[in-house]
Amino acid sequence: MGLALTELTVSHFRSHKLARLSLDGRPVAIHGPNGAGKTNILEAVSLFSPGRGMRRASAAEMTRRPEALGWKLSGLLDAQGQRFEIETWSEGGAARQVRIDGKSATQIELGKLARVVWLTPSMDRLWIEGAEGRRRFLDRIALSFDPAHAETSLIYEKAMRERNRLLKEQVRDAHWYAALEGQLAETGHRIHTARLRSLDLLRAAQDRAETVFPSAELELVQTEGAIPETVEDLRDALSESRFRDLAAGRTLVGPHRSDLYGVFAAKGVPARECSTGEQKALLVSLILSNARALAEILGAPPIVLLDEVAAHLDAGRCAALYDEVCALGAQAWMTGTGPELFAELGDRAQTLIVTESDEGSVVAA
Ligand SMILES: Nc1ncnc2c1ncn2[C@@H]1O[C@H](COP(=O)(O)OP(=O)(O)OP(=O)(O)O)[C@@H](O)[C@H]1O
Ligand SMILES: [Mg+2]
Repeated sequence: MGLALTELTVSHFRSHKLARLSLDGRPVAIHGPNGAGKTNILEAVSLFSPGRGMRRASAAEMTRRPEALGWKLSGLLDAQGQRFEIETWSEGGAARQVRIDGKSATQIELGKLARVVWLTPSMDRLWIEGAEGRRRFLDRIALSFDPAHAETSLIYEKAMRERNRLLKEQVRDAHWYAALEGQLAETGHRIHTARLRSLDLLRAAQDRAETVFPSAELELVQTEGAIPETVEDLRDALSESRFRDLAAGRTLVGPHRSDLYGVFAAKGVPARECSTGEQKALLVSLILSNARALAEILGAPPIVLLDEVAAHLDAGRCAALYDEVCALGAQAWMTGTGPELFAELGDRAQTLIVTESDEGSVVAA
């Protein structure tokens, strides 16, 4: 038995007042007009993994307006040969909570059960925009391999904000810095190692895969210098950089200054110089590699969310994507504006139709 949601109830979440979906483990093809509420369903599924979900929205933003009561998602999740009852919700805009089989749980515990990976239209400009988006993309992959990665990143970011505050206030007292730098070195080293490991896993999965999607040569690069290889060296580098950092008013050393460099391997062309369709194909390729690597490590592929993925792919690549998703055996949730986009899938997928009504989004099988 693979990883799949078999039931999903979406309550007061974005445009959905109440939707109850029954799933059978096949890929799910969702179609309907613009604004109907398709992406909102994918976002709901993305919240079965740690973090702020596919749109990185706050719990308050996801609350259905105008009521703004709070929202709730509940589902039955088949994972690791068992069935789990998962609930996640937010009340009054507060941070979301999680319950597994009726007991309150952490997001890391949820992440160990449900691995969810996604590709959204907002990632289309990933290769041409700033490094932050690419770091986030890589960190999401790292998190899919190790759900604790999210927490490590939060601790790192908090310590860095503190250190940057000291720098801005021109605090020169060394002992204020030492504890923060110890924390930054420890978590920063873990983040860097997890990213390198993720790239190794992606490369290995890419090399083994039978796929029509282009492979990418991937490299983690630094804005300047290299990230020291041990916790101690990273701590020393931070303390040595203090003087320079005081002048800059921010921390200049560490994994928050890494970037992911990608090359379209077959052509030797940097990803950012590729055509729109080629860039999309590279991203599809990476998401599939991520899913294949997870399938090998865990024995089951992750849930895969592909929002409007057919939009930039030609008919041949689109058909190949469907074949590869089906071969992987993943519960892939896909959206598109019309049923013709999913015709190639035939009965290999189940279909949901989303429309808009006065009462909000309506989902029909
Ligand atoms: N918190 C909220 N409360 C109520 N409605 C919301 C909320 N957030 C977003 N919406 C609405 O949900 C609607 C559907 O959004 P969604 O992104 O799911 O559409 P879609 O079907 O994916 O459309 P498209 O084909 O254009 O991508 C939008 O009209 C949006 O205004
Ligand atoms: Mg959409």
